[in-house]
Amino acid sequence: MCESFAEDLLAWYDRHARELPWRISPADHAKGLRPDPYRIWLSEVMLQQTTVAAVKDYFNRFTTRWPDVAALAAAPDAEVMAEWAGLGYYARARNLLACARVVADAGGFPQTEAGLLTLPGVGPYTAAAIASIAFATPAVVVDGNVERVTSRIFAMGDPLPAARPKLRELAAQLSPQKRPGDYAQAMMDLGATICTPRNPACTICPVFAHCEARRLGIAADLPRKTPK
Ligand code: ADE
Repeated sequence: MCESFAEDLLAWYDRHARELPWRISPADHAKGLRPDPYRIWLSEVMLQQTTVAAVKDYFNRFTTRWPDVAALAAAPDAEVMAEWAGLGYYARARNLLACARVVADAGGFPQTEAGLLTLPGVGPYTAAAIASIAFATPAVVVDGNVERVTSRIFAMGDPLPAARPKLRELAAQLSPQKRPGDYAQAMMDLGATICTPRNPACTICPVFAHCEARRLGIAADLPRKTPK
């Protein structure tokens, strides 16, 4: 079941992936080009608590002005903070600069999840996202989208946040060894466009056949949350 889940999801992604400025085109992908770790890291830090729609313009301005990590590391703090204005959470911008300087001094990004986790502002989600998308490591990438999709596939009704470790295990069961970066981004796209928090579009879902919550008619009720 798990393999065909990933296969069905990836076949959908091949046709419907969102075009986003930090992704590389399928044609470049086919030529064996890999995404740039700098661009993946920058996009993932920007996407922490900010929507894709809001991030696009900021991402394009940052990468035009500072095309690589050495350029960003050399930028004056005030200029970076000014470009960040509007994205909010200024601690993220300060960590961004601190991280760029560590990476530039080291001559590049660490290529393992454990190495990435040592960087300022890089937590478990971001480390796994960079490891899978930029370095093709089969890391288990779990964000809110992945938690929602996974809880529905397995009809896992235990409430968040206590269910997080269990959801992580279930997400790991679904994750393939092949094409880890595409798989992670396919889960994000599925969560953002089809397996949405309210009114999920189950009738056009590429993994409809694998989804226990859809079968039971409870997809929109999951994941459950412990009342505050
Ligand atoms: N949200 C966080 N990271 C993302 C990515 N790489 N693509 C789309 N949405 C995302």
